[in-house]
Amino acid sequence: MTGQHIFIITAASIIFNVYAIKVPADFKFGVATAAYQVEGGWNASGKGENIWDRLTHTHPELIADHSTGDIACDSYHKWKEDIDILKTVGVEFYRFSISWSRIMPTGFTNKINPDGIKYYNDIIDELLKNNIEPMVTIFHWDLPQPIQDLGGWTNPQISVYFEDYARVVFENFGDRVKKWITINEPSSICEDTYGKGNNAPNILSPGIGDYLCGKTILLCHARTYHLYKNEFGRQQRGKIGITIDSIWAEPKTNQSADISASVREMQMGTGWWMHPILSKEGDYPAIMKSRINEISKAENFSESRLVPLYKHEIKYIRGTADFLGLNHYHTWLVSDNKYPITDPTSFNKDKGTKLERDPKWKNPLITPWGIRKLINWVKDEYDNPLIYITENGYQDDGCLDDKDRVLFYKGYISEVIQAATTDKCNVKGYTAWSIMDNMEWRSGYTIKFGLYHVDFSSPNRTRTPKSSAKFYQYVIKNRNIPNDK
Ligand SMILES: *[C@@H]1O[C@H](CO)[C@@H](O)[C@H](O)[C@H]1NC(C)=O
Ligand SMILES: *[C@@H]1O[C@H](CO)[C@@H](O)[C@H](O)[C@H]1NC(C)=O
Ligand SMILES: *[C@@H]1O[C@H](CO)[C@@H](O)[C@H](O)[C@H]1NC(C)=O
Ligand SMILES: *[C@@H]1O[C@H](CO)[C@@H](O)[C@H](O)[C@H]1NC(C)=O
Repeated sequence: MTGQHIFIITAASIIFNVYAIKVPADFKFGVATAAYQVEGGWNASGKGENIWDRLTHTHPELIADHSTGDIACDSYHKWKEDIDILKTVGVEFYRFSISWSRIMPTGFTNKINPDGIKYYNDIIDELLKNNIEPMVTIFHWDLPQPIQDLGGWTNPQISVYFEDYARVVFENFGDRVKKWITINEPSSICEDTYGKGNNAPNILSPGIGDYLCGKTILLCHARTYHLYKNEFGRQQRGKIGITIDSIWAEPKTNQSADISASVREMQMGTGWWMHPILSKEGDYPAIMKSRINEISKAENFSESRLVPLYKHEIKYIRGTADFLGLNHYHTWLVSDNKYPITDPTSFNKDKGTKLERDPKWKNPLITPWGIRKLINWVKDEYDNPLIYITENGYQDDGCLDDKDRVLFYKGYISEVIQAATTDKCNVKGYTAWSIMDNMEWRSGYTIKFGLYHVDFSSPNRTRTPKSSAKFYQYVIKNRNIPNDK
């Protein structure tokens, strides 16, 4: 390398450091957790059983380390310490979920558990006292077991029970909570459960149960939105949305088959949920309806396996989000994948795509440009809706000096801010998943996402900040993303 080259590179990096990316004044930072993953207290003070209690207790072999969420981070007892940590990091909001079974042990309105209500009241009050805004997820996967016993998401009647539950939530917490998320990650609930058998209640019905579940989820969400607007919104004046997870599907090549495949991946993976709620015309994406109809017919089903949304349902679901919560973790290269028609029925066969990582990506889990493309895709598809990134995070083995997680957050937050500023996307918040290591569903405690380390071998569940906690604290305090940290 010549001297001149070195000079240019050095000068460039100095300029880069001086001009760290500035965060707009109205952009907010938070962290997230979910009840089952942190609370523990699985049967404390009258809590009922949910589908994750049942799965981990009866099928430990399905959890990577045969663990349970019985104690998890013990946040049922350590919630005040959790809020101290939030204060230390300096977050402006905290996204957490309410456990349906903790406040309604049977799943139904016949029994309300005052200790459960008090638990969340204490958290909300303590957050507000410390100037941290609560952002509450009404449902984050932990369905009451008695409702599962009646068919769970494949029973359309659940939307009535869901509305009953949401009413209890709004009645008890809506005076203080102004940001609501109805449901977290519909595709994880429907596709990972019924399509892949990866989640509780571990029922497999690929290509059928996933779509049945999907329709119920959309109706539950819409009912909850309308309930809020009709009975609570005028007084409580909060915003209500849904959290949808999405990958970014980058076409593997510029051949038209691969470009179409990446369009299908986005439309069927993400548009499945966003299109009915956020598009002007509502309903499932056209490509999803036609593909599943054609393949169902070729497989000798007498009708499409995609349960249709009827006209009144399309209208009922359309426009039911004051904001979009967007969860994002991974970018994939997508190419066309022609499944023989005799292959078993599945969502993947319906999509007809293949997902892989580019071997040229240094760390396949760190591709920050993907989140910016995803946010721009949402802007272009759905007329620039208000977006909060409600989850984004990095998994590792839990080391305290988590340099890769720092690199991850530096890259991803920078891209989100550039989407908000340079690209004029209406994205106003970022949520790191998660404030602390926790029970990662079927992976148990084998992978860690925390800004704080949790010592699961100690009854104290001691929390210790990692390098990434200090990095996030710096970003929030200084409202810029440094290049030299
Ligand atoms: C809660 O479950 C534990 C086992 O995880 C058991 O030892 C305890 O007796 C149960 N408590 C109640 C109140 O049922
Ligand atoms: C596809 O074409 C675009 C625009 O010309 C280019 O930026 C991109 O790198 C190409 N992608 C591949 C995989 O060749
Ligand atoms: C559908 O039925 C037709 C007529 O019985 C049969 O020829 C064809 O192989 C069947 N297709 C599949 C995918 O099973
Ligand atoms: C747990 O916390 C208590 C109170 O802070 C302390 O006395 C005790 O030594 C801790 N135990 C462990 C194993 O860290």
